[in-house]
Amino acid sequence: MKCRIAGTAVRPEPGRTPGCGWFGRRLSVKETPAPCGTGGRAVHSIREPIDMWDFFETVRHRHSVRRYQSDVAVEPEKLHAILETACAAPSAGDLQAYRIAVVTGQAQREALRNAAGGQAFIAEAPACLVFSAVPSRSAREYGERGASLFAIQDATIAAAYAQLAVVAAGMASAWVGSFDEAAVRAVIGETEDVRPVALMSVGYPAELPEPTPRRPLKDVVTHIE
Ligand SMILES: Cc1cc2nc3c(=O)[nH]c(=O)nc-3n(C[C@H](O)[C@H](O)[C@H](O)COP(=O)(O)O)c2cc1C
Repeated sequence: MKCRIAGTAVRPEPGRTPGCGWFGRRLSVKETPAPCGTGGRAVHSIREPIDMWDFFETVRHRHSVRRYQSDVAVEPEKLHAILETACAAPSAGDLQAYRIAVVTGQAQREALRNAAGGQAFIAEAPACLVFSAVPSRSAREYGERGASLFAIQDATIAAAYAQLAVVAAGMASAWVGSFDEAAVRAVIGETEDVRPVALMSVGYPAELPEPTPRRPLKDVVTHIE
């Protein structure tokens, strides 16, 4: 993946790494040439042009895929970029109250499939990411609201970022929320204080599904003026 973002390295904090690649960099404000819609004015932006698929195209091309080329593995550098993208997501207090398990073993993917009521594509995809909330980490800072809400949100937002990165990396995914938490926990070797919230099959698609319908904006958006 070719990315160009200017910046300086982030100061490492105790227990945290500055990250490798471009997510670990502090962005600087740049003056960029006039883009469309600005009437010819230069604007200040936190990014330089990036050689990647346009964000809106990425969003438009994300569809749940439930058939995969099971013999084509996810390249390690793409997997790394996807995981870095997940960790670039916002989290309450920047605590990142989640864990991500990367499950590639055949037997383990079959166990995840079984934990998810036999949804076959989970074992067919070469990789399955398991996003889990760590409520205790958020609870230390935010109490009950951290445990019951923020940790779940942290894990969910990270998963959503990952799902878009999968598309940008030329692959496909499906989000799976219907599963037995205890059975998933057993596969990924986590204790009861960790709560799996999403499985995500990842791989090269063997189908191109039709876009799914959405409610009109007027049904979901309220303008308060
Ligand atoms: C919280 C959540 C749980 C989901 N659980 C499942 C699931 O268990 N199995 C499945 O095949 N798809 C699951 N999906 C995928 C949705 O069915 C899918 O996103 C939706 O139909 C819209 O289609 P699209 O992703 O192609 O836009 C889930 C999605 C979300 C966000």
